Amino acid sequence: MWKGRFSENTAQAVQKFTQSLDLDWALASYDIDGSIAHARMLGSVGLIPADEARQIEDGLSRIREEIASGALVPAQELEDVHMNIESRLIELLGPTGARLHTGRSRNDQVAVTMRLFLRDRLHRIGSGMDALLAVLLERAARHRDIIVPGFTHLQQAQPISMGHYWMAHFSAFSRDCDRLLFALESLRECPLGAGALAGSTLPLDREMTARELGFARPTRNSLDTVAQRDYMADYHSFAVTFATHCSRLAEDFVIYSSREFGWLLLPDAFCTGSSMMPQKKNPDVLELLRGKTGQILGHFLDLLVTLKGLPMTYDRDLQEDKRGLQASLRTVEDMLAVLVPLLSAVEVDGEKAAEGMNDGFLLATDVAEYLVARGVPFRQAHGMVGGLVKECIARKKGLFDLTRDEWKALLPEAGEDLFPLLSLRSAVERRNTYGGTAFDQVAKQIEEGKTFLESF
Ligand code: ARG
Repeated sequence: MWKGRFSENTAQAVQKFTQSLDLDWALASYDIDGSIAHARMLGSVGLIPADEARQIEDGLSRIREEIASGALVPAQELEDVHMNIESRLIELLGPTGARLHTGRSRNDQVAVTMRLFLRDRLHRIGSGMDALLAVLLERAARHRDIIVPGFTHLQQAQPISMGHYWMAHFSAFSRDCDRLLFALESLRECPLGAGALAGSTLPLDREMTARELGFARPTRNSLDTVAQRDYMADYHSFAVTFATHCSRLAEDFVIYSSREFGWLLLPDAFCTGSSMMPQKKNPDVLELLRGKTGQILGHFLDLLVTLKGLPMTYDRDLQEDKRGLQASLRTVEDMLAVLVPLLSAVEVDGEKAAEGMNDGFLLATDVAEYLVARGVPFRQAHGMVGGLVKECIARKKGLFDLTRDEWKALLPEAGEDLFPLLSLRSAVERRNTYGGTAFDQVAKQIEEGKTFLESF
């Protein structure tokens, strides 16, 4: 394509090293969409005759089919998807095909191709996020009345509704949806017409190509357009936050489904066995959700490390941005594809969960707050109940094992009205502050969640 200035052919090793077909041949259809919009614009402003613009469009559609059927095989010496398609067009149309690249560089061409590609994939991920939020709402409603231990530091803290637990993940994933929408917003400007870096001497209609391709407007600065990849960084930022949320969920599930906890029941179809130990049912899917999160972070770092030292223009380093982007998209899609059906089949054993809480120490805060309601300053109440717990441990008893006489001896401030409060159910019910775990509050969260999902 550039042989005019060169007196030697490109070395074989260089062709192999600089080609990007392994990354961009799969994006051919998006490149063709961009080229068709460009050709229509060239025809419309009279830079090429209208009938030649139409021939170019037909030629490009034919090439799209040739690529889809496998009839057109790319040549490495043509470096990338863009030059392979253009070269085939020239083969088909001669001098008419040679007019397509008028007022265009591969720098704005690759930028538009990547935006079109990413826009499609983000929509696909959006459908997955939609399904994820829906399944969490469904689980929350289904398990709202089941009480499980709430932890801090992996130590039993206070009892919570399982619905509250599901809605905690819903909250995090709904913010990921906001981040996904932001990443989509970053794709709303069209690079075509930026040229190699400085725009064009030709009267291109940038508004038209932007409109044709479904962008809100053309990009505002041609140099920024070819140099920047922050629209990719916005995707990666969504991806790594989302994956981190998946990873934390997976970590919980590994713990709660273990024999020692045992109240979260994983479906057999989403677990694997051991090649040696016949009794095993392993949460490998969850471990892989956790494990793949590192790669997604790695792809983000890869992009940022590439960008941080680059001069503010197009540099060939940018060609490598596609590798991590595509790998990350694939991994995020794979994670969603397994997480949604897994969640829809996860069950909770409320009795088993209650067994683990049968010492009643999770109600210590409730007892302290009972005293607060009777005028005892909180710090003092905290000390009194701490002493009570210490005494229970010494007597090898739980709070639920104390007789009324023992209660009165150990905590003289305890009146008869304390005893109805000493149940896990009442502890959950009474945490009725907005956003708290009370069953009614969880119902409200679910309603608000439905509203969010409808508007997403
Ligand atoms: N394959 C290249 C890429 O993906 C296309 C742009 C090449 N531009 C250039 N000035 N060499 O970035």
